[in-house]
Amino acid sequence: MSSEKGFVLWFTGLPGAGKTTLAERIKTIFTEKGMKVEILDGDEIRKGLSRDLGFSKEDREKHNERVIFVAKLLSRNGVVTLVPLISPYREVRAEARKEISDFVEVYVRCPLDVLIKRDPKGLYKKALAGEINNLTGLQDPYEEPISPEMIIDSNTETVEESVSSIMSYLKSRGLTNH
Ligand SMILES: Nc1ncnc2c1ncn2[C@@H]1O[C@H](COP(=O)(O)OP(=O)(O)OP(=O)(O)O)[C@@H](O)[C@H]1O
Ligand SMILES: [Mg+2]
Repeated sequence: MSSEKGFVLWFTGLPGAGKTTLAERIKTIFTEKGMKVEILDGDEIRKGLSRDLGFSKEDREKHNERVIFVAKLLSRNGVVTLVPLISPYREVRAEARKEISDFVEVYVRCPLDVLIKRDPKGLYKKALAGEINNLTGLQDPYEEPISPEMIIDSNTETVEESVSSIMSYLKSRGLTNH
């Protein structure tokens, strides 16, 4: 049984930037160490807890507030809580920081032209074709973090490099021994 405590790693960034990829890799590391881990993925939560919500500013805020609430409960009970969530609004992320005692904001950054080429879910293609009209970064706003704990440049770093810099940061903060 580990004596380490819970915390929240909050991955913010544009669609396709690498939030889910990194959360899943970090989950594997902590699971292998015997820690309790949960991923609160924005996409998954939209299929359940937030299935009544759309993509207006108000709904995006409500969706994010629900995630904050759950992340707070999990992390204060010792769970390593990984939150890959676009979370486009600065004010909502500030609220997460205020509510959650051990909060680490990771800005997963990538230039738009690279994201349009990457397009893992085909969303940019749809937005550019006019089939959707609310894609964050192209049509809806994304407010970049001003002073996140970490910035990951997924355009220039490999997934391995990004994962190891996140783990080093957590170690330096005393949030893990691994
Ligand atoms: N350093 C890196 N970190 C994370 N992902 C990377 C990195 N370099 C390249 N990638 C690639 O970028 C893509 C990111 O897709 P992913 O689904 O993780 O994005 P996302 O931020 O979760 O998007 P969405 O908001 O739409 O869910 C993957 O194909 C991944 O392999
Ligand atoms: Mg994702």
